Amino acid sequence: MSGHESTYKPNTGIEKWLDDRLPIIRLAHDSFVDFPTPKNLNYWYTFGGILAVCLAIQIITGVVLAMHYTATVNEAFGSVERIMRDVPFGWLIRNIHMVGASMFFLAVYVHMFRGLYYGSYKAPREVLWLLGCVIFLLMMATAFLGYMLPWGQMSLHGANVIINLFGAIPLVGEGIQSWLMGGPSVGNQTLQRFFSLHYLLPFMIAGVVILHIWALHVPGNNNPTGKEVQDVEKDTIPFHPYYTVKDGFAIVVFLIIFAVFVFYAPNVLGHADNYIEANPLVTPAHIVPEWYLLPFYAILRAITFNIGPIEAKLLGVIFMFGAIAVLFLLPWLDTSKVKSMRYRPVAKQFFFGFVVACLLLSWCGASNPDDPVISMGEDKLVVSYTDVAGIEGTRVFEEYAPAAQFRDEQTAAGATASLAVQAAPAFRFLHLSQIMTAYYFAYFLLILPILGLRERPKGEPDSIHQSILGHDAPAAAPAE
Ligand code: HEM
Repeated sequence: MSGHESTYKPNTGIEKWLDDRLPIIRLAHDSFVDFPTPKNLNYWYTFGGILAVCLAIQIITGVVLAMHYTATVNEAFGSVERIMRDVPFGWLIRNIHMVGASMFFLAVYVHMFRGLYYGSYKAPREVLWLLGCVIFLLMMATAFLGYMLPWGQMSLHGANVIINLFGAIPLVGEGIQSWLMGGPSVGNQTLQRFFSLHYLLPFMIAGVVILHIWALHVPGNNNPTGKEVQDVEKDTIPFHPYYTVKDGFAIVVFLIIFAVFVFYAPNVLGHADNYIEANPLVTPAHIVPEWYLLPFYAILRAITFNIGPIEAKLLGVIFMFGAIAVLFLLPWLDTSKVKSMRYRPVAKQFFFGFVVACLLLSWCGASNPDDPVISMGEDKLVVSYTDVAGIEGTRVFEEYAPAAQFRDEQTAAGATASLAVQAAPAFRFLHLSQIMTAYYFAYFLLILPILGLRERPKGEPDSIHQSILGHDAPAAAPAE
C-alpha cells in the first residue's frame, strides 16, 4: 500500500550489505510478508496466487516440452507422440501442460468474475484492471498459438479459421493474413513462427504480472465490501502468515483438482480430432476451439447479417474483438459509486445474468449453430415434382421410405422429382447466441452505465460502521 513504511530489518551482515546496494529482500518483505491486507478477504481472493502458480507451472513444463519438440510439419505430430511414449515422464509433463492451460483459464475466469462482482476495476484500481485485460489477451494469444503446435487436425484447421478472419479486414486483411502465415498457406513457416511466439509470450505475461502486482500494491487490495480500508492499523493484517496460509491452502486444493484431471482425465477437455495428424485436404466436420475460447467464438458466429456496407464476416470479427475491448473500457462504463455488488441488489441480478450469458455462449460455441435448442414440431420430407404435362406439385411426408418411394414412382412415370428436408420451425443455437451476444454487450454498454446512476444501493450493515467508522450506519446510506 502506498505510504506504508518499510518494516524490514536486515539481520546479518550480508543482508545489510545487499540492502544498501539492491534492496530486493526489502521489496519482497514489504510486498509479500508485511504487506497490510484487509482482514476480510474471502477465498475468491486466493485466485491471484493460484494464477501465479499456474503461470509458473506452464513456463516450467513448457520449457521442458520444447527440449523434445520439433517445429516442422513433418515432425511436429511425431515429436509430440514421442514425448508421450518414449521421453521419460514426457506423458506427465505434457498432460500437466495441456490440462494446465485449461486450469489457468478456469482460474483466470474466476479471478475476473470476482473483480467484476466486487467492483475491483473501479478507481483507484483502473490500471490494475487494464493490466489484467492485457494479460488476458496475451493468454488467449498464447493458448491459440500453442494449440497449433501438436499439428493435429484441429491445430491446422482451427488456425486456418482464425487466420482467415483477418482476411475480412478491408484493404490490409489479405496482407495481414499472409504475414501471419509467413506464406500463401498455413505450413512450415507458420508452425515455426507460432512456436517462436508461443515460447515468447508467457515471459511477456510474466512481465505484465509484475506490473499487475505493482499496481495492486499501490492502492492495496479491494475487499468484498468494496469499502476502502479506513484505518490501516485496525482494518488490515500482515500478508504473512495470514494470507500465505490461506492462499497456500487454496493452492493445495486447486492442485488436487488439477491432479485428478492430469492422472484420470487428461483429454476430457480437449478434442479427439487433434490426435489425427493434420491433413490440409480433409477438413473436420465441426471445427471448435478449446473450451475457454468458446464464448468469443460464439459471438463471432452469431453475426450472420450485414449492417449497411459492413459484411457479416467483418462484423463478426468486430464483435468478437469488441467483446474484449469493452473489458478495457469497463472502469469508465460502470458509473456506480458503489463498488461491491453486495450493496447493489439490482446490479447483482444482472451480474448473475451475465454469468449465465457467458455459460450459454460457451454452449453455443460448442454446438452447431443450425441445430435446434428447442424444436417446434418435427422435420418433414417434401417431394417436389413436375409431371409430363408440366404440372407442378409437392407432397409432404413424415417418413423417409414412403417419400423416396413416391419420388421414384414419379420419376418412373416420366416426371422430374426431388426430395428435400423441410426443417421444422425451431429456436436454434444461432438464435440463442444472438440473444446472449446482445445481452453481453448490453450489460457493459447499457445496464452498468444506466444502473450506476439510477440504482438505490443498500445501506451498509452496522458491523462495518461500528468496526471501521466507530458509529452506527445512517439509515439507507450509500455504501461509498
Ligand atoms: C497470469 C494472470 C494473473 C495473475 C498471476 C494475477 C495475479 C493477481 C494477484 C496475485 C492479485 C492479488 C490477489 C487477488 O486479489 O486475487 C490480483 C488481483 C487483481 N487482479 Fe489479477 N492476475 C492475473 C490476471 C488478471 C486478469 C486477467 C484480470 C482482469 C482482467 C485481473 C484483475 C485483477 C484485479 C481487478 C485485482 C484486484 C482485486 C481486488 O483487490 O479486489 N487479473 N491479481
